[in-house]
Amino acid sequence: MKFKKTSQGSIAYCQHTPSDIEPSWFGAEFWREKSAITGSSKGRYTTWFVDASKIEAEQNQWVLRHYYRGGLIAKISRDQYFFTDLQKTRAIAELALLETLYKQGFAVPKPIAANVEHSGLLYRADLIIERVDGAEDLVARLSKTAMSESQWQSLGKAIAEFHNYGVYHADLNAKNILITDDKFYLIDFDRGELKKPNAQWQQANMSRLLRSFRKELGKLNTLAFSEDNWLQLHQAYQAKLKS
Ligand SMILES: Nc1ncnc2c1ncn2[C@@H]1O[C@H](COP(=O)(O)OP(=O)(O)O)[C@@H](O)[C@H]1O
Ligand SMILES: [Mg+2]
Repeated sequence: MKFKKTSQGSIAYCQHTPSDIEPSWFGAEFWREKSAITGSSKGRYTTWFVDASKIEAEQNQWVLRHYYRGGLIAKISRDQYFFTDLQKTRAIAELALLETLYKQGFAVPKPIAANVEHSGLLYRADLIIERVDGAEDLVARLSKTAMSESQWQSLGKAIAEFHNYGVYHADLNAKNILITDDKFYLIDFDRGELKKPNAQWQQANMSRLLRSFRKELGKLNTLAFSEDNWLQLHQAYQAKLKS
């Protein structure tokens, strides 16, 4: 990972990232002016999809995310965090984890860069990653089509491989899993970390995922998810998990 100073803070970027990257690239305005916004995903906040071929030779699609606070503290500060050290900022920690996982061959989005801007003791941050081509998240997929038993099993195996490597995902849920024609990707590693494999956090990740499927089914009763699907996923997960 490389670093450069900017007027307000620092940018961390990867080997393959254009080295003229600057803070404006992390905001939607920069891309809007170039008519390069190709889509967005609106949850509590907006994730932008942009066409980065407007600025680099390669035909890449990128995803821009700004970090926002959750919970009660969000009422005090929507998007500012306490700054201690650059490596510990949400964005740079996520970029570094993604870089490690990507290099290990895990199905995660290719990392591009993180932007951190300080003011006093506080910072704001953004992340750019590559958009996974032809992917949709599991809520989008299951609201239209069912997955086969073998797909549920491969998802279980894929999660076990992350867990065997010690990847703790702080928010494993159905929207943070993407599916393409041939595989499953995990995304959104904010506050994720590499930990010593341990049944306690691994089970907590799995319970969170199960709760998320049940919650989505509660919102949309035609969602193609059943407790049987969970058993298929979970059995394949357990079989692959090293204990
Ligand atoms: N790299 C990516 N490739 C394709 N789609 C993505 C990618 N990153 C995010 N998305 C889509 O955008 C949604 C929101 O992104 P996410 O990073 O999970 O932000 P948040 O959960 O904070 O809203 C995801 O659920 C997914 O549908
Ligand atoms: Mg998410």
